Amino acid sequence: MITQQIPHAATISALRTRIRSWRDDRLTVGFVPTMGALHDGHLSLVRLAKAQCDRVVASIFVNPKQFAPGEDLDAYPRTLMDDAEKLTSARCDLIYLPTPDIMYPDGFSATVALEGPALGLETDIRPHFFDGVATVVAKLFNQVRPDMAFFGEKDYQQLLVIRQLVKDLDFPIDILAGATGRDRDGLALSSRNAYLTADERARAGQLNIILKEFAKTLETGTDRETAEAQALKACQDVFDSIDYIEARCAHTLAVLAPGPITGPTRILAAVRLGSTRLIDNMAANPPL
Ligand code: PAF
Repeated sequence: MITQQIPHAATISALRTRIRSWRDDRLTVGFVPTMGALHDGHLSLVRLAKAQCDRVVASIFVNPKQFAPGEDLDAYPRTLMDDAEKLTSARCDLIYLPTPDIMYPDGFSATVALEGPALGLETDIRPHFFDGVATVVAKLFNQVRPDMAFFGEKDYQQLLVIRQLVKDLDFPIDILAGATGRDRDGLALSSRNAYLTADERARAGQLNIILKEFAKTLETGTDRETAEAQALKACQDVFDSIDYIEARCAHTLAVLAPGPITGPTRILAAVRLGSTRLIDNMAANPPL
């Protein structure tokens, strides 16, 4: 149970009452949706929101619809008191804590499903995932009705899916991206890093090194398929298994033609160490 000192709303009506009072004062509202277990990556999004908007709402909701049976829904770290302290010190104005029965009451039957950037990569491995994300984010957007919402570039495919969702469904919300927060060895910050054993943690930083090398190889004009094969081999030497490591169009995530890259490119990777799945991505630009 969260303490009474920290401003929070646990129902849609409490959330709307608070936001209505800000709207009456003509204040702008920024929104940072999260599943909790907050790290510096989340807090930098709150700080970015704070720099852009008068008031900031962060939600914490571990969304069951984006976990398949057998995934880590029950094990997903829940650190509410710690999260609330971190949000307060990042000067978040309101924490929204909906419960599963608020988000998905009995009889709930809608699903928001996208194609476009949602096809392939994560969807090949976790087919349920973006429908779950798009459904919960659409609901949160309707509940909070922010002016701007903030998402991390670490989940690059998710970021493009949310931009497409906002465009397709006419949400009057600007989507802003925050840079990926990283540990000193380059490992992208993620709530799931808490699952890594000491040995796995020591290997995990290699993903960032492999992505940097992959980007450099593309940027010197090497064929995309050659660079991809080298990066895959480097991953196979370090990780227990590889879901994907690919270079795609940075704007649409479309598969690229063979040969050297000719436009803005994003390299995306998902690998596994034991039971932990790491994802990361990096920009690559064609040689001048
Ligand atoms: O990125 C996340 O933490 C989640 O996918 C999100 C956007 C909060 C939806 O549950």
